Amino acid sequence: MTGEGARPRPLVAGNWKMNGRRSAIAEAKAVADALAARETPPRADILVCPPATLVMVMAEILKDAPLAIGAQDCHWVESGAHTGDLSAEILADAGASAIIVGHSERRAYHDETDLLVKSKQQAVHRAGLTAIVCIGETKGQRLAGQTIDVVVRQLERSLCDATTPENTVVAYEPVWAIGTGLTPTNADVADVHAAIRDRLVARFGEAGHAIRILYGGSVKPQNAKELMAVANVDGALVGGASLKAADFLGIIAAYE
Ligand code: 13P
Repeated sequence: MTGEGARPRPLVAGNWKMNGRRSAIAEAKAVADALAARETPPRADILVCPPATLVMVMAEILKDAPLAIGAQDCHWVESGAHTGDLSAEILADAGASAIIVGHSERRAYHDETDLLVKSKQQAVHRAGLTAIVCIGETKGQRLAGQTIDVVVRQLERSLCDATTPENTVVAYEPVWAIGTGLTPTNADVADVHAAIRDRLVARFGEAGHAIRILYGGSVKPQNAKELMAVANVDGALVGGASLKAADFLGIIAAYE
């Protein structure tokens, strides 16, 4: 895909975080069944990122479904003495097609730096999967007028030089909007996404136009259509509202 006019195919991704026992598989199955039953498929790729324990079973159950399975984090090396960790290769072997890296909860609670996030992005590429690289400002940074600076700096440092539209998706998630019911105004979302797009094009040339930029943070069925219509918003990264089939389908409906 080339040129400023060509919009990338959107992606609606659900991040279940530390939620979801076996019983939750039914929710993803209900989403898949509803999508499969439609005459016209949504104009978006759909991804669900459950806890790692469910990746393999869901990838198997949903292997023919119009919905892919991803993971929420990975280690940066391929294998070895890293008790409790999962490599991108292990997650690929389990059936994940994408891995979220650098989520603000990883950055905040596990002290992940941009440099580490970049190593993880490279690990995801090494395993042949798509990295969803998250960036976003805190409330304090927004109030201090630093949003664009912070986001562009995180983008610059968290992405490796081998970034392409196929191997990487960027997710802009303002930290203060996550799980709070608060969202930036459409104008604020447009400003940040335009700054991200400019930086992607400056660094990666024409390919920068085709790299998907998702918005995340309190996306709900009620606000999805409006948010997804903002320029340079190429889909959503959804937390809480991805846990229930009806809500997630309500968000996917923005792409009907
Ligand atoms: P919420 O949709 O629950 O605000 O979470 C957003 C998020 O962090 C997705 O990664």
